[in-house]
Amino acid sequence: MAVETIRWQGPCPGGHVALIEQTLLPGRAEIAAIHTLAEMIAAIRRLAVRGAPAIGVAAGYGLVLALQELGEAPTERFRERLSSAKAELAAARPTAVNLAWALARTAGKVECMPLDTPSPALLAALFSEAGAIASEDAAQCRRMGELGAELIADGSSVLTHCNAGALATGGIGTALAPIYVAVERGKRVHVWADETRPLLQGARLTAWELSEAGIEVTLITDSMAAACLASGRIDAVFVGSDRIARNGDVCNKIGTYGVAVLARRHAVPFYVVAPLSTFDPDVPDGASIPIEERAPEEVTEGFGPRTAPAGVGVWNPAFDVTPAELVTAIVTERGILEGPDRAKVEALLRDAGRI
Ligand code: MRU
Repeated sequence: MAVETIRWQGPCPGGHVALIEQTLLPGRAEIAAIHTLAEMIAAIRRLAVRGAPAIGVAAGYGLVLALQELGEAPTERFRERLSSAKAELAAARPTAVNLAWALARTAGKVECMPLDTPSPALLAALFSEAGAIASEDAAQCRRMGELGAELIADGSSVLTHCNAGALATGGIGTALAPIYVAVERGKRVHVWADETRPLLQGARLTAWELSEAGIEVTLITDSMAAACLASGRIDAVFVGSDRIARNGDVCNKIGTYGVAVLARRHAVPFYVVAPLSTFDPDVPDGASIPIEERAPEEVTEGFGPRTAPAGVGVWNPAFDVTPAELVTAIVTERGILEGPDRAKVEALLRDAGRI
């Protein structure tokens, strides 16, 4: 029922990545064929593929594209290119840690193979690991959906921010996964989607994918969230994340922090849904998370005519940080972390072998 956002098409070597060109949604649902590393980096930068887990899948396949382009190169040349391609991909977007995590995992698979392994075998290993990341992501989304669905009562109204659905992952999404599963199980769920300025992921993507799936959705502008929560319309907030610090602070799309403050003010539970690959054991707290700043034009003329005077100063951070104390629970594929804090996050990471 949910859309397929990204997949490898054809054999390896010789295939390419097919992904939904999200910049064209909701007007056109077109597939972009990505054949080279440069094309993949450009796709990540322009947000043709976006959302933390989907960026991770794209990064793994991006390395495969880079090495496939080399042909049957000597193994040393292959390893040099692997290292440079990894650095190029890592610089594409800074905040979603799934990107660096997927690069370390795919490249790591090859880096530990014997030095005389011929390049076709290295490429095969890289391709298999990238594919594993994609299929594991789909399974993790489903598991988070099953766990999170228990938090949604029949007849609920849920508010979400940005797009943390199928379009943001290799599966049925993170924040939207519990909604998909709850609906599958026969519950009635109404979704309220924040528009999500400046790039309108809520309006263009969440409203689109939920409508495609036949789930009831009402769109509001970001500035309406306070009135919406105050009116008692919302039973729970569900959002995704781009990076979760070791103390449980949650980085997500700009505007999420405001929604968390509002949810606390109105005693509405604020749930974050994210796989283990979104946790960053190297980041002690939210203040240490690098926040991407994007072009001013996204604010002044994002979708057509200029809506601000020429030359006006603009601040355009793409993400913000919600302190752990405002988070009711984090739903992961390994269980639900209620009242996340440093001790609980570290116990989870230790249990998963991440620290
Ligand atoms: O800039 P984007 O569209 O990549 O931002 C995406 C988000 O902030 C999502 O909420 C986050 O990646 C979680 S996606 C499952």
